[in-house]
Amino acid sequence: TDLQYVEGIARSLFENFPKEVQSGLLEVVSPSQHYYPDFNTLKETFGDSKDRVKWRTKQNLDYSFLMLYAQDKGTYYVQLEDDVFAKNGYYSDMKAFATQASSNEWLYLEFSQLGFIAGKMFKTRDLPMIAEFFFMFHKDKPIDWLLDHILWVKVCNPEKDNKHCDLQKAMLRRRYKPSLFQHVGLHSSLPGKLQRLKDKDFGKQGLFQVHSNPTAAVNTSMKHYQQHSLERLYKGGDFMWALTPVQGDYILFSFPQPIHIAGYVFRSGNSQAVGDKFHNTTVEVLSPHLRNAKSNSGTTAAEKLLAGSPSKYKQSDSSFIVIDEFYNGVAEGEIDEVLQPISALRLVVHSNSDVWALLSEIVFILQQ
Ligand SMILES: *[C@@H]1O[C@H](CO)[C@@H](O)[C@H](O)[C@H]1NC(C)=O
Ligand SMILES: *[C@@H]1O[C@H](CO)[C@@H](O)[C@H](O)[C@H]1NC(C)=O
Repeated sequence: TDLQYVEGIARSLFENFPKEVQSGLLEVVSPSQHYYPDFNTLKETFGDSKDRVKWRTKQNLDYSFLMLYAQDKGTYYVQLEDDVFAKNGYYSDMKAFATQASSNEWLYLEFSQLGFIAGKMFKTRDLPMIAEFFFMFHKDKPIDWLLDHILWVKVCNPEKDNKHCDLQKAMLRRRYKPSLFQHVGLHSSLPGKLQRLKDKDFGKQGLFQVHSNPTAAVNTSMKHYQQHSLERLYKGGDFMWALTPVQGDYILFSFPQPIHIAGYVFRSGNSQAVGDKFHNTTVEVLSPHLRNAKSNSGTTAAEKLLAGSPSKYKQSDSSFIVIDEFYNGVAEGEIDEVLQPISALRLVVHSNSDVWALLSEIVFILQQ
């Protein structure tokens, strides 16, 4: 309702997506300020705080506004917030599922377990009925509960038991598995409310593993998403999430003094982004002593090492020696004595990726 804010958002979208706005693909809508009730006089119900009641009430009204706005824009309507990630191919999967499900039998299809924020599909012809229901009770309950009540009203028989009711409701609500959407935003628009909602279907393991690693200068050619930087991963506060790597991209760890590193683990992907792994990526080390140490025959130790047949190691296109590569998103191994000490270690990407790359774990095992 802050006109200046709305115009700012509209302007920024128009500047960043001129084609999409001009073609009508992208629209910006905002309700009139008279659309909302006085949020300060709402009754606090179900133990929710004043702020939470205000937030959930506004959410009911905003969803309803959007539904009515969109009712004649297509056959189906999908609710998606801006902080979810979609699996590859989600669009055709959803379309196929919707087309298969005979259209008279369902009220909505679910493509994740994340409540209203990700992937509920409705038929646009049902939207006026759903929005009217939300309007009627917008001050009373959160939207997920209201949606469940619509099902109840439609198919439950008060003279029969809960089991009967649950069965009937399940027919109106079809769940697609596995989930196509995952929530990435940690912050909800309700101040102070951290959204730690994660879809269980995506897996439960932690998003990153913290290890205490030796001091190193870290550097990468890759751009990270939001705050998910290499620096933060290396310090133990986050995972690193890099935008689509291209051939030649690298991550570099330089140690202030050459150091004896007995082993390492690099793990990519996590439960939030299972597919965001490093592919065709090598692990390479820089061994200053190896480069300089000459044997009697005049060959360097490095040359000897690389000459073995079949050679265990490959010279990379610089002084680095390739010791390993990622398999299935993980590189894990020991570093030969002959390569010690190490002054730098790097990961090098050898072909363009189709996906982003998320590094969730770095371990350097120091020699005891
Ligand atoms: C880190 O990389 C950037 C560009 O990728 C480069 O300009 C910078 O000098 C590098 N820093 C170090 C410490 O290597
Ligand atoms: C890895 O990258 C190299 C260099 O681009 C390419 O020749 C090779 O086919 C790639 N390997 C795989 C498994 O993608």
